[in-house]
Amino acid sequence: MAPDILRVTSTSLMLMLLTFCMGAINLEAQVAGLANDEVEALLEVAAQLGKKGWNPNMTLCNETDADNKVFCDCSFPGGVCHVVGIYLKGQDLDGSLPKAIQKLPHLKQLDLWANYLSGNIPPEWAVTKLEFLSIGVNRLSGKIPSYLGKITTLRYLSIENNMFSGTVPPELGDLVNLESLILNANNLSGELPLALANLIGLKTLRLSRNNFTGRIPEFIQSWKQLNALEIEAGGFTGPIPSNISLLTNLTELRISNLLGNGSEIPNLDPIAGIKYLMLSNCNLSGNFPENLTNKSQLKILDLSFNRLNGPLPHSFKGLPLVQKMYLTWNNFTGPMPEWIDTRDSRNSIDLSYNSFTSEPKKLADTLNPFKSTWDWNYPKPVECLNAERYSMHINCGGPAATIGKTTYEADKEAGGATKYASTRLDWQKSTTGHFWDIDSSTDSYIAQNMSILNMSNSVLYTEASLTPLSLTYYIPCLVNGNYRVKLHFAEIVMRDNRSYYSLGRRVFDVYIQVSIN
Ligand SMILES: *[C@@H]1O[C@H](CO)[C@@H](O)[C@H](O)[C@H]1NC(C)=O
Ligand SMILES: *[C@@H]1O[C@H](CO)[C@@H](O)[C@H](O)[C@H]1NC(C)=O
Ligand SMILES: *[C@@H]1O[C@H](CO)[C@@H](O)[C@H](O)[C@H]1NC(C)=O
Ligand SMILES: *[C@@H]1O[C@H](CO)[C@@H](O)[C@H](O)[C@H]1NC(C)=O
Ligand SMILES: *[C@@H]1O[C@H](CO)[C@@H](O)[C@H](O)[C@H]1NC(C)=O
Ligand SMILES: *[C@@H]1O[C@H](CO)[C@@H](O)[C@H](O)[C@H]1NC(C)=O
Ligand SMILES: *[C@@H]1O[C@H](CO)[C@@H](O)[C@H](O)[C@H]1NC(C)=O
Ligand SMILES: *[C@@H]1O[C@H](CO)[C@@H](O)[C@H](O)[C@H]1NC(C)=O
Ligand SMILES: *[C@@H]1O[C@H](CO)[C@@H](O)[C@H](O)[C@H]1NC(C)=O
Ligand SMILES: *[C@@H]1O[C@H](CO)[C@@H](O)[C@H](O)[C@H]1NC(C)=O
Ligand SMILES: *[C@@H]1O[C@H](CO)[C@@H](O)[C@H](O)[C@H]1NC(C)=O
Ligand SMILES: *[C@@H]1O[C@H](CO)[C@@H](O)[C@H](O)[C@H]1NC(C)=O
Repeated sequence: MAPDILRVTSTSLMLMLLTFCMGAINLEAQVAGLANDEVEALLEVAAQLGKKGWNPNMTLCNETDADNKVFCDCSFPGGVCHVVGIYLKGQDLDGSLPKAIQKLPHLKQLDLWANYLSGNIPPEWAVTKLEFLSIGVNRLSGKIPSYLGKITTLRYLSIENNMFSGTVPPELGDLVNLESLILNANNLSGELPLALANLIGLKTLRLSRNNFTGRIPEFIQSWKQLNALEIEAGGFTGPIPSNISLLTNLTELRISNLLGNGSEIPNLDPIAGIKYLMLSNCNLSGNFPENLTNKSQLKILDLSFNRLNGPLPHSFKGLPLVQKMYLTWNNFTGPMPEWIDTRDSRNSIDLSYNSFTSEPKKLADTLNPFKSTWDWNYPKPVECLNAERYSMHINCGGPAATIGKTTYEADKEAGGATKYASTRLDWQKSTTGHFWDIDSSTDSYIAQNMSILNMSNSVLYTEASLTPLSLTYYIPCLVNGNYRVKLHFAEIVMRDNRSYYSLGRRVFDVYIQVSIN
């Protein structure tokens, strides 16, 4: 009996295979490439996005241009192709997120970065099998929909630089395959839901520039695999949870602008591989932790705008790779350590606004000692005797200009990450900070106007000084008295048109420091 059954089974298997094969051959003969229904679906997707120029006669599967491609997988039986990736980046598409992608059952990657798309994520997307979704730099708005949590295949999700608002839905905690979650630069509010603790595979989490409330949650300790945690100006309240020390795989930790109660610098000893550490404006107190000089991988350290005090450690030999260090605006005291003068001058260090009892011996382009000693009320230099001033006008970042009776001096100081331009008697300039997340070779501390300026005194606005952390103009020889301070602002970079160059917002503070002496 047994052999008989076996024979029958294998015969029917062969028959099935044969039918399948013939079917496939037929299919190839009919459509030769992309399945017909996917051609239709792609054209619908294009219409919904506002993408012009596609028609059914073109080779829609097209990998010629990385930012403009439909990526197909043609390894299906009979050479049938299915769309697996759509990349339409930086094209100013002004439609909406295409609900028709639900008709592309094999679609895994969708990248619509930098367009002009509006509306919200359509409910039709809940049934997709997306693994990579990037819709950053658009003008999407509304709440993050809970059905986004149904796309459990997602490994990468970025909605950064949009105007999503409201709370993060707990359903995002269902995205158990997620490795990257990027919510930067929206208008998200409320507390982070506890359900996010389920995302135990997270490697990258970016929450910067939102309006969250409450503390940075204790459950961050669930994200043991995290490599990068970025919470700059997220809206959160301090202090930083001490269990951040359990995130031993971190190489990048960036937290800034915490509100409320501070703490000492948390214990980062177990995070041996840290490369980028920013704890800026976190209301941190206490001394510089000796152990922080023992991070052999550390490249950038930013502890600016805290209340740290006491002397700096005697040696920074344990930081062989450090390139930039911002200690600006703390209350470090004691004599200037020797390593400041003996260090490799390629390494930038900013000591501005501290309370050291001595000054560095050597000046360098990569060292900013502005107001680094305890007496911020510098006595007027003797040279001021014949050079006292009653007014000062500077065209920040721009050329000299005369508007009416007023002459604005040129400001051609190039700026820099830790730069103090101190040689001029009439005015001096201190700049602190570099631009994270952009190629450092393109670092520029001067912005140029990106569109025509129509105001009559446009020369004051065609160029501007830029700096990420702190920019100070210091006028040593001003005579004591009352002054009127007038700041001229104009938006010269974001454009006023229907393109992604028009998207963005600015938030800034102005301090005027009076120095009485
Ligand atoms: C596509 O090709 C067909 C047959 O060659 C032609 O009739 C039709 O006008 C073409 N359509 C477009 C949009 O070019
Ligand atoms: C495919 O590439 C050709 C040749 O570069 C181009 O004309 C066509 O527009 C591309 N198709 C798509 C869908 O991008
Ligand atoms: C941010 O969201 C809040 C509601 O949470 C809303 O009142 C406010 O207008 C939004 N801000 C912007 C700039 O859209
Ligand atoms: C953030 O929320 C606070 C109140 O919770 C509100 O006052 C503030 O305007 C919000 N910021 C933005 C950019 O909406
Ligand atoms: C950290 O990273 C290493 C290798 O990159 C990996 O083997 C390990 O599982 C990760 N997780 C933890 C918690 O260390
Ligand atoms: C921090 O981690 C330790 C060790 O895992 C644990 O015992 C403690 O409860 C955690 N603290 C908080 C506040 O979650
Ligand atoms: C700040 O600390 C004080 C004193 O320990 C405490 O009473 C207060 O509740 C804390 N504030 C916040 C927002 O945690
Ligand atoms: C900083 O934290 C201390 C307590 O650690 C608190 O008293 C103080 O108000 C905080 N500063 C700010 C600006 O919130
Ligand atoms: C620095 O780290 C090494 C091993 O990683 C350790 O032996 C040494 O004690 C540490 N030094 C300090 C000052 O923490
Ligand atoms: C420095 O780190 C080591 C482990 O790396 C630890 O044993 C020691 O207690 C730490 N020292 C301080 C002052 O935190
Ligand atoms: C800075 O530290 C010095 C010496 O400890 C102290 O006298 C001074 O009040 C501190 N300044 C500030 C602004 O905390
Ligand atoms: C900058 O503004 C000036 C004055 O309006 C104008 O002549 C110039 O074309 C503008 N630059 C750009 C790139 O639009």
